Amino acid sequence: MWLTLFYSCTGGAALVYTLYRWVIPAAVQYHGGLALMWHDVIVERLLDTLTQSTRPQRLLGAVQKNATRGDPRSVVRAIDHFCRHKEWAMNVGDEKGCILDSVVSEVNPAAVLELGTYCGYSTVRIASLLPPHAKLITLEFNPDFAAIARQVIAWAGLEEKVQLVEGASGDWIPKMKEQFGVKTFDLVFLDHWKDRYLPDTKLMEECGLLRKGSVLLADNVICPGTPDYLEYVRSSPRYTSQYFKSHLEYTKVEDGLEKSVFLG
Ligand SMILES: C[S@@+](CC[C@H](N)C(=O)[O-])C[C@H]1O[C@@H](n2cnc3c(N)ncnc32)[C@H](O)[C@@H]1O
Repeated sequence: MWLTLFYSCTGGAALVYTLYRWVIPAAVQYHGGLALMWHDVIVERLLDTLTQSTRPQRLLGAVQKNATRGDPRSVVRAIDHFCRHKEWAMNVGDEKGCILDSVVSEVNPAAVLELGTYCGYSTVRIASLLPPHAKLITLEFNPDFAAIARQVIAWAGLEEKVQLVEGASGDWIPKMKEQFGVKTFDLVFLDHWKDRYLPDTKLMEECGLLRKGSVLLADNVICPGTPDYLEYVRSSPRYTSQYFKSHLEYTKVEDGLEKSVFLG
């Protein structure tokens, strides 16, 4: 009887682990809503409770363990490895990250604004490609995420290039000129909450932060999606807009980046 109980418990535990580790993650790979619900809600809460830590803290731990100080590419690699093999996280990710890199290199910006820092993954990607004397301002309203991002950016050796500002985009955009001496941004990476893309774009226009030729690059325009923003940049005579098809970070769900050039 004890032997039967032992085999039942071991078999049950093995089944639950297999479901958790492989079966469910594979099944949700192709469905945006399910993928986000599984990775971003269920698994995150479960691991936070079991480990008494947060996902950003665990991500930082992976950087400190596996990346070389002062080497931004090793920081990016460590985060991608963590997110593909341990825990999904809402970074732009390796696949869309390559598109981001190519746009940064093409624009070769002197002034960049990033909306939505999270743990600093895209911040590191962008900052590591900037020419000398260029500056990246990144906005994050969650103080816990901002604290982790500061450490990730410092680990990559990019503090000199990055100004991380804590607070909401709607509050900071109107103060950019007077607080940071910015004239206009050459590149803006929109990657904060999706319902803010359109109002913040209009706010940047009103505040004179965009010049003829400024590039807006927007993440997650398909998943979770930003329909009002897409409709605006695609139909407005003030922009020429182009879609770069890709996948939601670390999954096979379609997502993409929208690159929109401001025409003045
Ligand atoms: C998708 S994550 C950013 C990921 C990051 N760009 C990367 O690829 O590594 C979105 C972040 O935007 C922040 N956020 C959302 N709305 C914001 C707002 N209105 N102002 C500032 N930060 C915001 C959230 O707290 C979250 O950390």
